Amino acid sequence: MEKLEIIGKKKLSGVISISGSKNATLPILAATILTEKKVKIKNVPIVRDVETMVSLLNTIGSSVKLNKKKKIIEIINNKNLKTLAPYNLVKTMRAGILVLGPLLAKYGSAKVSLPGGCSIGSRPVDIHLSALKKMGANVKVKNGYIIASTKKSLRGCLIKFPKISVGATQNILIASCFAKGKTKLRNCASEPEIQDLIIFLKKLGCKINKIGERSIDVEGVKNLKPTIHSVIFDRIEAGTYIIAAALTNGRLKIKNIDPKIISTEINMLNKMKVQIVKKKNYVIVSRPKKICGINIETRPYPGFPTDLQAQIMVLMTKAEGISTIKENIFENRFMHVSELRRMGANIEIEGNRAKIYGKNQLYGAELMATDLRASVSLVLAGLATEEKTIINRIYHLDRGYEQIEKKLSSCGAYIKRLK
Ligand code: UD1
Repeated sequence: MEKLEIIGKKKLSGVISISGSKNATLPILAATILTEKKVKIKNVPIVRDVETMVSLLNTIGSSVKLNKKKKIIEIINNKNLKTLAPYNLVKTMRAGILVLGPLLAKYGSAKVSLPGGCSIGSRPVDIHLSALKKMGANVKVKNGYIIASTKKSLRGCLIKFPKISVGATQNILIASCFAKGKTKLRNCASEPEIQDLIIFLKKLGCKINKIGERSIDVEGVKNLKPTIHSVIFDRIEAGTYIIAAALTNGRLKIKNIDPKIISTEINMLNKMKVQIVKKKNYVIVSRPKKICGINIETRPYPGFPTDLQAQIMVLMTKAEGISTIKENIFENRFMHVSELRRMGANIEIEGNRAKIYGKNQLYGAELMATDLRASVSLVLAGLATEEKTIINRIYHLDRGYEQIEKKLSSCGAYIKRLK
């Protein structure tokens, strides 16, 4: 199994170009199920989850070509697709559930493997299913599969999500584009990846009206147009490298981003005294000698993202005083803490709260990555110690970070993949 070897304490300096967002690419790929017209998606990150979604679409009969060099995906669905999304593809990537809404909306039936639990929490799909039921679908769960069907087509209706869910908003938004009549979605997630999905769907010819931050109205359509779309930047990758610069006392230019979209993260890091100069499509990050501890809570966008919680925790181990984190989105998202403790971090956990004692010396260790964002937090911790750190199970990292070793090495980091 591949591992990463890191020897840190090098000030990172240089330019890092941020890739397209994985979490925007996946729902956009799922949405292409709706159309038979040619779709070209640009700025696609070449990461494992995107490749898995491409395999899933090809498995159901779509014709998807991924050009890794140009980071382009081209799709033509000129025949009827199969409506079965098998376990072996959905189990490795929860976003596989996103094909349920579009398959059901277009073909009137779908059988999609129920995604399992995962290390950050149970992650149920009840909100997706009850919304589809409200739209007239017959939904049952049998032998680990969600089996859904409609008599005619899905019906537009009012759906008030009981909880803000990124995936449920995406799934139901895509499905409602082909529902009969008007669907009013309320209490929606408003992550930038959802904005990007809306832009893509509108280019396809879907009739979507976003009213305020958490309400979306959709008028069902029947015909769509060929489309070219460039995926939004990965805001979590951007935040991760901003933190890397701060942690290593470095100076990095992080480009191909829109700093306005990550203003919550930038404000929090500014509070820690990390210096961030914002320009139109890049930021320059540096850090004074001292950084300050802060208290944060993860929240749906525009709040502080849960996907950046593990990374900022590493920075907190180096800050003055005590910092705290309250994780409000996932019930078990402190898996990285035990590994950080093995590196010498002083972190207390009580329920969904973490207390991080700052100005902590971190030491190298052999570590085990547990999930995507936890893995990258260990990489950051490795960069902050001058000893050798070995990270095992890096397949998690490969699910969502494009060319991480190359990007960090080009800025002076010692980071090597051991086969
Ligand atoms: C997406 C992101 C993930 C991010 C998360 C929260 C993708 C591919 N993944 O995941 O990186 O961490 O948003 O920003 O974009 N919930 C239910 N029932 C449901 C659905 C969700 O109870 O049917 C709960 C979840 O367990 C969780 C909360 O709602 O506690 C938010 O989850 P959700 O926003 O749906 O996350 P994902 O879409 O899975």
